[in-house]
Amino acid sequence: MIARILILLSGVLILASCQSDSNRRNTADAQIEKRIDELISRMTVEEKIGQTNQLTVYGTTEELCEKIRNGEIGSLLNVVDPADINTLQRAAVEQSRLGIPLLIARDVIHGFRTVFPIPLGQAATFDPALVEQGARIAAIEASAAGIRWTFSPMLDISRDPRWGRIAESAGEDPCLTSAMGAAMVRGYQGEGADDPTSIAACAKHFVGYGASESGRDYNSTNLTERQLRNVYLPPFEQAVRNGAMTLMTSFNDNDGIPSTGNRFLLEEVLRNEWGFDGMVVTDWNSAGEMVSHGFAADTKDAAMKAINAGVDMDMMSHVFSLHLKDLIDEGTVDERRLDEAVRNILRVKFRLGLFENPYIDTARIARVTYAPEHLEAARRTAEESAVLLRNEGNILPLDASALRSVLVAGPMADAPAEQLGTWTFDGEPDHTVTPLAAIRAAYGDRLHIGYNPVAAYSREKVTAAKLAAFTAQAASYDAILLFVGEEAILSGEAHCLADLNLQGSQSELIAAARRSGKPVVTVVMAGRPLTIARDLANTDALLYSFHPGTMGGPALIDLIFGNAVPSGKLPVTFPVATGQIPIYYARNMTGRPAAGNELLLDEIPVGAGQTSLGCTSYHLDAGFGPLFPFGFGLSYSTFEYADLQLDKEAYLPTETIRASCRLTNTGKRTATEVVQLYVRDRVGSTVRPVKELKAFDRITLEPGQSRTVEFELPAEDLAFWGLDMQKRVEPGTFDLWIAGDSQSGNSVTFTIN
Ligand code: NOJ
Repeated sequence: MIARILILLSGVLILASCQSDSNRRNTADAQIEKRIDELISRMTVEEKIGQTNQLTVYGTTEELCEKIRNGEIGSLLNVVDPADINTLQRAAVEQSRLGIPLLIARDVIHGFRTVFPIPLGQAATFDPALVEQGARIAAIEASAAGIRWTFSPMLDISRDPRWGRIAESAGEDPCLTSAMGAAMVRGYQGEGADDPTSIAACAKHFVGYGASESGRDYNSTNLTERQLRNVYLPPFEQAVRNGAMTLMTSFNDNDGIPSTGNRFLLEEVLRNEWGFDGMVVTDWNSAGEMVSHGFAADTKDAAMKAINAGVDMDMMSHVFSLHLKDLIDEGTVDERRLDEAVRNILRVKFRLGLFENPYIDTARIARVTYAPEHLEAARRTAEESAVLLRNEGNILPLDASALRSVLVAGPMADAPAEQLGTWTFDGEPDHTVTPLAAIRAAYGDRLHIGYNPVAAYSREKVTAAKLAAFTAQAASYDAILLFVGEEAILSGEAHCLADLNLQGSQSELIAAARRSGKPVVTVVMAGRPLTIARDLANTDALLYSFHPGTMGGPALIDLIFGNAVPSGKLPVTFPVATGQIPIYYARNMTGRPAAGNELLLDEIPVGAGQTSLGCTSYHLDAGFGPLFPFGFGLSYSTFEYADLQLDKEAYLPTETIRASCRLTNTGKRTATEVVQLYVRDRVGSTVRPVKELKAFDRITLEPGQSRTVEFELPAEDLAFWGLDMQKRVEPGTFDLWIAGDSQSGNSVTFTIN
């Protein structure tokens, strides 16, 4: 009884402390709004326009300082020297009329100096807590350099690996992307935004950018409002709910409307429906590019359309600084809209505590950069992000004591800059540990380690003679570790591909290794899913690591030699052939779904007469299924799923579904399984996906150990935007799976009444 009272009491105390926290926040917010009112009332139109102007600079000049003193600039991006930043900030705070601090921004996308795996790799961890920690570390390092705003997380649902920016995404799924995005927002912004180590997050690119036609960057998208609301918008809404302070509009036009000029999305959805009170920035010159789109007649028209749509800050197209004054004088832009934009910008600056603490302690950067715990977190993230796709005969992990020699080969084995991946302006190859360096450090005293990159870089085409020499060399080693993939520059912004096979001679390199007759372990470091079907046959094991960052080498070597066990799962479907793209698991249910017994190209009898009866939805030359499904990943252990159960058979839309299963580690290693919960809504007012991920968890079990894994799924999570474009749970029958990937497992059925 006493214990119960204590528990109840502590509940009350927690509640009380939460309430006083929120009271404190409300008071702080009210004070901030008062200070903004006071400031805006003293600002000239020119000074207001200055706040909406973001410029890129790489250092400080007198001309720049003069502009800042005149109040012509609200934010700078790409200046990273703490001393420079203090100089620029001094011009703003001490020498401008109103003393408004600058907001210093940078693309800190997956780490600052300590580089974490690319976001697609981070998503493969299915470990939001770890991802949050990575973002926190990025914020600690970046803020020490004076950066208080990052253009991350990128929340574009990416179902097209041709698109180079899939590397920056969390993959194809709204649930996973929402979880990863929210984790990053929390990590960047920390406990309180005004903590000097906090940096404002920026949910980008709003919205639909990842669905560009043919996976070609900057291309148009044509998503319906229903697709936007059911698939593309939820991660942004979650980021807003988790406090993201800023949001960036995207480059694409959707259904003919460039995002930067889309009032429906920026005002209706973002502000009115979600209550966003942060700041909206354009992508780089995306306001100006509305002229190239033919959506604006000239840059003045573009400025008018952007500000009236709800954009607050212009990144680098200068259209606000050039035209807003005239537009206001002419009455095409209401000064109150400008005031609102300035208010949104100032609110971010106040919340970050920039008015109180505008300067950086220049000594901090040396203390925090590459701190041992940062490197350790990067190593662990790289380890959890690697996905084991093949392990014939359980060749992995290698037993170092049973080997005398290992040949390390391939263009990615010792390519420190390449393993960092895209968007790593601040990552330093000199501080990056490659697989070659890592294996030498860990096993150099025990194993004879040979090294032959064969190709100097991923695209290099090498001669048949070189490959033959490699086969001969490989035959004299006990095992071959091949590191192949993509140079960092082959993915990321504006780096799209039409062909997703391994570049250069890398497939031939894998085949040459195979001809040696020795065990071949292949590691692919890439910015996207590649079409590796033909390579799988030539390797005993394949570990897909995406670009793993600063500590990729030690993480991969630990995995290869069994000091760690792979637990990553694919955050995106791997196609058999590029022609299947877009291919993703949560596709709509179609008529004539593939039955699994389809005839492939060479099975169709010559001279067969045409018929469409009995034919199903598939490609003659690639079949129907993916090479690997979303959520897939092997372990050095095995897991068995059993006893899938629900607490009830029927639920009200207001109730919570309690689902559980028994997970057993049936292998010989302690290992972690990413347990995934999927749901199918059998009948809807509009066609529903075949399955949707609704929850996941990482469960670690010792050999032979069993555990009941439980999920609590609020039935309201089954809501979707149906025929009448209202979000609601539609009563009916549902299937539910708890499984190790999106394609396996048994289901149970329940109803929503
Ligand atoms: C353009 C990119 O699309 C965006 O993601 C990035 O944040 C800005 N440039 C700033 O570098």
